[in-house]
Amino acid sequence: MPFDFSTVPDRRNTGSLKWDKYAGRDILPLWVADMDFLSPPPVMEALCARAEHGIYGYTVPNDEARATVVEYLQRQYGYAIKPEWIVWSHGLVPALSIACRAYAKEGEGVMVCTPVYPPMLSCPVNMGRKLIAVPLKLENEQWSFDWPALEKAVTPDTRVFILCSPHNPIGRVWSREELGQVAQFCAKHNLVLVSDEIHCDLVLDDIAKHTVTASLGPEVEARTLTQMAASKTYNLPGLACAFSVIADQKLRSAFVQAAQGLVTEINAFGYAGTIAAFQHGEPWRRELIAYLRANRDFLYEFVKARLAPLKLVPMQATYLAWIDARALGVDNLQKFFEDAGVGLSPGSIFGEEGRGYVRLNFGCPRATLEEALVRMERAVKGKRP
Ligand SMILES: Cc1ncc(COP(=O)(O)O)c(C=O)c1O
Repeated sequence: MPFDFSTVPDRRNTGSLKWDKYAGRDILPLWVADMDFLSPPPVMEALCARAEHGIYGYTVPNDEARATVVEYLQRQYGYAIKPEWIVWSHGLVPALSIACRAYAKEGEGVMVCTPVYPPMLSCPVNMGRKLIAVPLKLENEQWSFDWPALEKAVTPDTRVFILCSPHNPIGRVWSREELGQVAQFCAKHNLVLVSDEIHCDLVLDDIAKHTVTASLGPEVEARTLTQMAASKTYNLPGLACAFSVIADQKLRSAFVQAAQGLVTEINAFGYAGTIAAFQHGEPWRRELIAYLRANRDFLYEFVKARLAPLKLVPMQATYLAWIDARALGVDNLQKFFEDAGVGLSPGSIFGEEGRGYVRLNFGCPRATLEEALVRMERAVKGKRP
């Protein structure tokens, strides 16, 4: 069944975080990770059905919600879990903060590799934990972990390693081997491994395959929290529903304890949307991937042919492109491109080494992407001597 990713309703004045940022200004928003596509029809139908019920009381995850996640992980990733391992939350950002609170005491260390999704830098700090940020390395157009640097940075009071898999913003799909190295490092230093896999169903590469970190084996599973949601893939972040899979009973109890008073009942529509997306969204997801691939290829070609000196390292997953604009020599890249009519995420919010980069969200109709790139070209050409 063909789905239409090219025509979308106007999102202005709908309370959209992405679009309202530039209300009243002619700026195309290609920043926050939220796509300008309608959700799959079965999701819309499930939400309408839930709305028609008319009673919106406190809602708890039922057997169907749990069974749907169990079935989804088995089907997509061959990962077998038990329903009682699932802990729901309003989003993965609160779950990240809760994990910092649960597994590290105040002042103890939480490690993360940069550049990375900004809340992974701020949540540990907001919780009063010590952030240990270690840069990834870029060699021969390939990002990877810098093991000597990680070994040097880890301290005896480091307790948690936050993994972003696939990695936002560099778009890497970590191989089984790399994930094994992460797991080994965590075992060696006795770290809880928080594996944020929210982008797992957005692999664009033909060859790369996502592996659920915890599925590597029982020892890895016993120290790992798998954090996921249907929200990125099926474009439902506004439904505020995510889940953590925690196999180890002690880790799970500590997480639930740390969440007391912070996470209460989740949005009733969140469960309805998640269930419908995982049960019936796959045909839509496949077409989404094809559309995003074509957008990514269009973006690659455009950057190469018309946006020099901007550069783009090939990416394997997500709809977020990490563009190297260092050669442009512009201090405030966000303002530079906003002045040209395009709203991008400034690289500096992803960590110190993100300075000089911008992140562009190409989860939008091709026409929007093309118009944004033409505007960027004008700005870049105007900058050239
Ligand atoms: C890696 C990663 N984790 C979590 C989130 C957001 O999670 P939530 O909206 O469930 O809080 C994002 C959003 O872009 C993300 O990229």
